[in-house]
Amino acid sequence: MKTLFANWKMNPQSEPEAVKLARAEDLKNAVIIPPFPFLGPVKKILKQAPLGAQNVFYEEKGAYTGEVSPAMLKKLGVRYVIIGHSERRRLGEDDAMIAKKVSAATAAGLIVILCVGEPAGIYKKGNRATELFIRKQLRFLKNKKNLIVAYEPIWAIGTGKNAHPEDAARVAQLIKSIISVPVLYGGSTNSKNAKSFLEKKEISGLLVGGASLDAKEFLRMIKIAERF
Ligand code: PGA
Repeated sequence: MKTLFANWKMNPQSEPEAVKLARAEDLKNAVIIPPFPFLGPVKKILKQAPLGAQNVFYEEKGAYTGEVSPAMLKKLGVRYVIIGHSERRRLGEDDAMIAKKVSAATAAGLIVILCVGEPAGIYKKGNRATELFIRKQLRFLKNKKNLIVAYEPIWAIGTGKNAHPEDAARVAQLIKSIISVPVLYGGSTNSKNAKSFLEKKEISGLLVGGASLDAKEFLRMIKIAERF
């Protein structure tokens, strides 16, 4: 059975909607990753799915306005945390900051979903350019404990253009050769293309954005993931 990670991003817009969506998606091979304000209420109602967060800071406490520590997430019952999503890299997070976040979060016992992936310009240059780009993004990693890597080509996120499953499997294999951890694919996955990724042995699950906001569609994907 492979796992689907529901990255809701900055959705839905209210707590009742978040709780409703979480109830519908509360299955044992799903991980629910809501925005910070909904972590507590969602945790309360989840019976099967573990909880994830979309970001974390690297310091334990102190004068860091707007930040949330790994221990705070742990205390809320959060098991997973996304780090290095391209939407956060675009806001200014660089590899140095991401490296600090990964080591603080894994040391605190959170399981990190580290996102990597090339922009369109690199993809167009071919496999070799993509490979070098991904290698560079993983260069700082020293420890594989509590780590999952999600391969998300930036040009595939929220665009409806997904990677070829063969390409995703090849990059997943490359990641595994660098650091032997489970690898997810993410980028415009839905119930129509989920099987083509999940049937690849190198891919352990999917990081799902848009499709995870539609409970019916997400459940269709869960049914597919159950078969692998
Ligand atoms: P998407 O997002 O499924 O909407 O493309 C994936 C992600 O950003 O994790």
